[in-house]
Amino acid sequence: MESMEKIVSLCKRRGFIFQSSEIYGGLNGAWDYGPLGVELKRNLKQAWWDDMIAHHDETQAVTGAPSPFGMVGLDSALLMNPKVWEASGHVGGFSDPMVDDRETRARYRADQLAVFALEFVAADGGVTSYDGVLFAAPGEIGKTDDVELFEPHRKRIASIQKNHAGKQLRVAAVPNALQDEMLRAKVLAPGASAPGTLTAPRAFNLMFKTHVGALEDNSSITYLRPETAQGIFVNFKNVCDTARVRVPFGIGQVGKAFRNEINPRNFTFRSREFEQMEIEFFCRANESADWYRYWRERRYNWYLALGMRRENLHLREHEKDELAHYAAGCADVEYDFPFGRSELEGIANRADFDLRQHMQTSGKDLRYFDDQEPDEQARRYLPHVIEPSAGADRGALAFLCDAYHEDEIGGEMRTVLKLHPRLAPIKTAVFPLVKKDGMPEKALAIYRTLKRHFNVYYDEKGAIGRRYRRQDEAGTPFCVTVDGDTLTAGTVTVRERDSCEQVRIGVSELQPYLGDRIGA
Ligand code: GAP
Repeated sequence: MESMEKIVSLCKRRGFIFQSSEIYGGLNGAWDYGPLGVELKRNLKQAWWDDMIAHHDETQAVTGAPSPFGMVGLDSALLMNPKVWEASGHVGGFSDPMVDDRETRARYRADQLAVFALEFVAADGGVTSYDGVLFAAPGEIGKTDDVELFEPHRKRIASIQKNHAGKQLRVAAVPNALQDEMLRAKVLAPGASAPGTLTAPRAFNLMFKTHVGALEDNSSITYLRPETAQGIFVNFKNVCDTARVRVPFGIGQVGKAFRNEINPRNFTFRSREFEQMEIEFFCRANESADWYRYWRERRYNWYLALGMRRENLHLREHEKDELAHYAAGCADVEYDFPFGRSELEGIANRADFDLRQHMQTSGKDLRYFDDQEPDEQARRYLPHVIEPSAGADRGALAFLCDAYHEDEIGGEMRTVLKLHPRLAPIKTAVFPLVKKDGMPEKALAIYRTLKRHFNVYYDEKGAIGRRYRRQDEAGTPFCVTVDGDTLTAGTVTVRERDSCEQVRIGVSELQPYLGDRIGA
C-alpha cells in the first residue's frame, strides 16, 4: 500500500485535485478537481448512473418476477424548506460532540480526542500512576498504540521522567476524561502550553445554515443539504404519480452535500463539501430483509467490477448497538486506505422511518397505492426503504489509491495509475514518433477521428518514452504511436498501459479495437 503523501503529491502534480482557493491559503475541507480529476470523478458518477439507473436491467431477484424493477433518477434542489430537516431529524440530532481549546483555538471532535495518563513501571514490576497531568491527542478513544505526541507533551513527559529514573514509562487510556470536569482540568491539549484549556464537550450541528431572501432573521433560515437522500423522500409521491413506477423500485440521485465537519481530514476523505450517489429503494416491509441483502452484495460487487482489488475491499455488517433506533440493518463497504480501513458507502435498511416522518410533519398522505392488490385493506401502505449511499469523492480517492503503482519497466522506474478504462480520465493518447515527415499530420487526423468517440489526448513533445510515462501517471490505458510504417503501410502501434506490450494494427481497425477495450 502506497503512502498518502505520494498520492496527494501525484494528485497535485498531475492536476487531479487541488486545494480550494489555494492562492489565498486554501479553505479547510474544500477541494477542487483539476482537468484529470474532474474526468475521473465524472466517469465514476457516470458509471454509477449507468449501472444503477440508465442501463439498469436487473430482474427482481427477491420477488422472482421476470421484468426488471424500476430505477429512475432525480435532481432535487440543494436548498429545501427547513421543515424537511426538522422532519428528517437533522435539526435536532445531526451533531457531533465538540470541544474547543481556549488557548490554541483548535476545535476537536470529542470522540476523536484520545486522553491518556502516564504510568511508570519499576524494575520490581510496581506501577506508579502519575496524576499531575493527562495528555490529549487526536486518536481513537480507549486506544494508546498510535498516540501522536506534540512538542509540549514531549517536554512535559521528559521532565516527569527525570523524577522517575530507572522506571519504564507507559501510557494508559482514560476514556471519559473530557466529560469529567475535574479530569478535564488536568488535560494538556495538543499544542497547548498548560493543562485545562479544553471546554466541556457540546453538541455541534453539522448543517451549514444560510438565509433565503433579503431578511436575515429566524424565519428565513434554511440549510445546505447534508445529504441528497431527503430530496428523494420528499419527491416520493411526485415520482409515484408521474413515472409509472411500481413497488419495488428505486430513485437515484447524485449531487453535492455539505457538512460542517469539525475535523476535515485525510485529503478529500472527510470534506465539508462533497458529492453523494444515493439510492432510496422502496419495497414491501416483508421483503425488505431480502432486498437489503441484495443491495449489500450488489453495491459491494460494483466496486470490484470497476477493478478495485478484492483484498482492499470489505463489507462490514454493523453491530446491533451501532444501528440507528429505526434501522433494521446497516452495512458499510470499506476500503483499506493508506490511513486505515474506512467507509466508502453505507447500505441501510431504514424501514419506513423517513416517509413516516415526512407524512407526519407535512400532513400529506405519502402512502403508496397498489391498484393491483386484491385485498382492499392492503392497497395503501408506506413502503420500507433500503438506502445504498455512496460518496463520489471517497470513491474517486479509493480508486486512485487502489490504482497507484510504482514498477520497473526496461530498467526504469515509473508511476502508473492502473485505473479501469471506464474510470480513466483520458482513454487514449496519440503521438507522432517524431515531429516531421508528415507524422504529426497523420497523428492529428487519427486523434480527430478517435476524439469523436472518447476522450483522446494528442502529444508531440519530447522523447516517446517520456510521453508514455506521462500517460501512465494519468492512467491512460492506451497510447497510439504514428511512425514511418503508418505512412507507408497504414499501421500504428498501440501500447497497453499495464503490460507495456505493443501491438501493430491497421489504422482502420483502431477505433473498434480501442472501443472494445475501453467500453466506448
Ligand atoms: N443518506 C445517508 C447518508 O448520508 P452517510 O453515511 O452520512 O449516510 C453516506 O453518508 C456517504 O457519503 C458516506 O459513506 C461517504 O462516502 C459520504 N460522505 C459522508 N460524509 C462525508 C464527508 N464529510 N466527506 C466526504 N464524503 C462523505
